[in-house]
Amino acid sequence: MKRIVILGTGGTIAGQARSAADNTGYVAGTIAVADLVAAVPPLAAFAIDAEQVAQTDSKDMTFAIWRALAQRVAHHLARKDVAGIVITHGTDTLEETAYFLHRVLAPARPVVLTGAMRPAGALAADGPQNLLDAVRLAASPEASGVLVCMAGTVHAGCEVRKAHPYRVDAFDSGDAGPLAYLEEGVLRRLRDWPRGDALGLAHVLRDDWPRVDIVLNYAGADDALVDALCALGVRGIVAAGTGNGTLGAPLEAALLRAQTGGVAVLRTSRTARGSVIDTPGAALPDAGTLTSVQARVELMLRLM
Ligand code: SIN
Repeated sequence: MKRIVILGTGGTIAGQARSAADNTGYVAGTIAVADLVAAVPPLAAFAIDAEQVAQTDSKDMTFAIWRALAQRVAHHLARKDVAGIVITHGTDTLEETAYFLHRVLAPARPVVLTGAMRPAGALAADGPQNLLDAVRLAASPEASGVLVCMAGTVHAGCEVRKAHPYRVDAFDSGDAGPLAYLEEGVLRRLRDWPRGDALGLAHVLRDDWPRVDIVLNYAGADDALVDALCALGVRGIVAAGTGNGTLGAPLEAALLRAQTGGVAVLRTSRTARGSVIDTPGAALPDAGTLTSVQARVELMLRLM
């Protein structure tokens, strides 16, 4: 039997509240990944190696944790006895980590991120089922690429986004829709697994990552934030525009000045779904289907 490696990074799936009825006032990232595995009896049917890479609330995710995680994933993918990898992760920045791993590693074997919207001891905790589904997916010989498995739904790591702050079914894939469903351990695939060209680990194993920030267009937005970022030495700016990535005149003028001065700029849409549709002759490039936070990861990687 090939092995499944489970890498723990924290999150609500490893969180504990004082009361089983409390789904919001808990501390994320307190239970060891080995204990999460031990709490799901059906996982005994799998050969599992559990390893703690980090123990954090994912709102505090750092580049150092990303580097360590990418290194551990690459290390285990190089093992012939490993069928796939599961990463337990907080849901708040899960889409950023998933996109980062997709771009850096683009693995042929499955690397499945999962988490939970309710802490481990909750009356109806979702973590145990999510973990079991993620392991089943990682063990599936047909699965491939960086995937996210939450609430019985499988998303591509390059498309997934957190769409709800509270519900158990908190993730979607925008217009692309899910890749598959996991129903009682049976995979019902809807479309192809994600593919991509791996940038490779070498690009990211440095600690001088370029500063890239996100600014938002809204009523009354002016040039002050962009000018302040440029004064700070920002290397890239993602501009989350209104509608089809549109920007108010003062903000657009500031971004054009920044671009002329050598700052890389990408436009996204602040709406929840859909891509920025390319406008011929647009002076500021768009990030297509990427969410603003994924576009930020993309820009950092390009600048590296
Ligand atoms: C976190 O992102 O670590 C906390 C929230 C969650 O996992 O749902």
